Amino acid sequence: MKIPQSLINKYNVPVPRYTSYPPANFFTEDFGTDDYLKAVVESNKKQPENISIYIHVPFCTQLCLYCGCNTHITKNQDLMHQYTDALKKEILMISPLLDKNRKLSQVHWGGGTPNAMPANLVGEIMELIHAEFSFIDKPEIAIECNPAHLDEHYIKKLVDFGFNRISIGVQDFQEKVLNVVHREIPAIPVADLSKVIKSHEGMAVNLDFIYGLPFQTPDSFAKTIDQAIEINADRLVTFSYAHVPWVKKAQQKLEEYGLPKPEEKVKMFEHAWAKMTVAGYVPIGLDHYAKPEDDMSIALSQKTLHRNFQGYCTRETTGQVYAFGVTGISQLENVYAQNARTVKEYIDSIESGKIKIVKGYSLSETEKITRHIINEIMCNQYLNWIQVEKQFGVAAAEIKKLLNFTENKLDGFVDDELLTYSESEINITQTGRFVLRNMAAVFDTQVNDGAKKFSQSV
Ligand SMILES: C[S@@+](CC[C@H](N)C(=O)[O-])C[C@H]1O[C@@H](n2cnc3c(N)ncnc32)[C@H](O)[C@@H]1O
Ligand code: SF4
Repeated sequence: MKIPQSLINKYNVPVPRYTSYPPANFFTEDFGTDDYLKAVVESNKKQPENISIYIHVPFCTQLCLYCGCNTHITKNQDLMHQYTDALKKEILMISPLLDKNRKLSQVHWGGGTPNAMPANLVGEIMELIHAEFSFIDKPEIAIECNPAHLDEHYIKKLVDFGFNRISIGVQDFQEKVLNVVHREIPAIPVADLSKVIKSHEGMAVNLDFIYGLPFQTPDSFAKTIDQAIEINADRLVTFSYAHVPWVKKAQQKLEEYGLPKPEEKVKMFEHAWAKMTVAGYVPIGLDHYAKPEDDMSIALSQKTLHRNFQGYCTRETTGQVYAFGVTGISQLENVYAQNARTVKEYIDSIESGKIKIVKGYSLSETEKITRHIINEIMCNQYLNWIQVEKQFGVAAAEIKKLLNFTENKLDGFVDDELLTYSESEINITQTGRFVLRNMAAVFDTQVNDGAKKFSQSV
């Protein structure tokens, strides 16, 4: 895929990343704990039947300057024990509200760095989850890990706790890049860690990379991707670096070293795309790649790919997502709810027997339709108006009116050969994937009022 400079200039504007719709900066503080608990009870009646759990572990031993995640920098193991106790209590507060006929299809541990915690603490929580819930046949039980804290013993414990997917945050193989962003260099090479993980039956490996960091060049990133391909991971993600220094102050430091220009970032993206597809991976959305036999590639070919805050997922592994831990965001049928902001606030509230929701959002029926449309664009690069009509029981013409959408709003994309449309369908071309966020924004009536700030789309 080649992206002409004229398209980069035209489409490199601030737009939401659409990890959720509406994006998290639209959540409001008038949504509180009572609203959340009510929504949890109501969620028992919602489809799909499967449920998911997200566990947020904020701890990291060192702050990577580029980081956009919710972290708490510490090595304090007493705090980690207290946090684990709070997590267990929180699970035990929500679990009795849930209809246990609903099975767990996805458990995702994210952060921060879940493996910054001693493995036995992760084990305690997994044991509780296994005791409280029953699982579907082939659930996805995944954990995000920093390779600097992984070794064969830790991996073996994760396998014993029931994990079947480990995501390794590689970011880049160039030490110069890792050093400048203050990222620890793994003592055990990622290739070796990956071999250890794959030596356990049924285990899958994901690798995460970021492009757009200081000292990265199109050539250096191409070398990183070559190394990644040799590792033969099941899935690979190349995140475009989101520079939001007005939210994450530490990112300002990176400006001193100079960040790659948008056209250089596009080259990094193009190289990664070319190399990954030649190596036989199926590109998914803008930045994910999966082996053709992977569930994600199969879901894409069947146009049934979904998405939640944890990334792309299949219909089977998605569902209502109940989040536990500081800053965790639950995603129920028509509600988002975010947990306490700081570790102290989180532990204190749970110890006093209360869940503290600090902000959230209740989606209107129209917003649920918008979310569905944006998800279809972001996940399947395809929209079928008849299917939307059926799913929501509202005529397509009515939906278009509600969203203030007319087909001619897509004509610019058509002229640039980024999509084609008819009255019943929208099909996004290969190059069009590069501007998926811009296309999604066409259906987003809230973002178009310009009241919020977002990272650039490239
Ligand atoms: C929670 S971290 C992964 C686990 C672990 N903390 C680590 O860094 O290895 C999730 C991923 O988000 C990505 N990420 C973090 N900050 C980002 C940013 N500002 N822009 C784009 N991707 C980012 C990184 O690739 C990182 O691996
Ligand atoms: S990238 Fe990972 S390890 Fe680095 S600060 Fe962010 S969450 Fe922590």
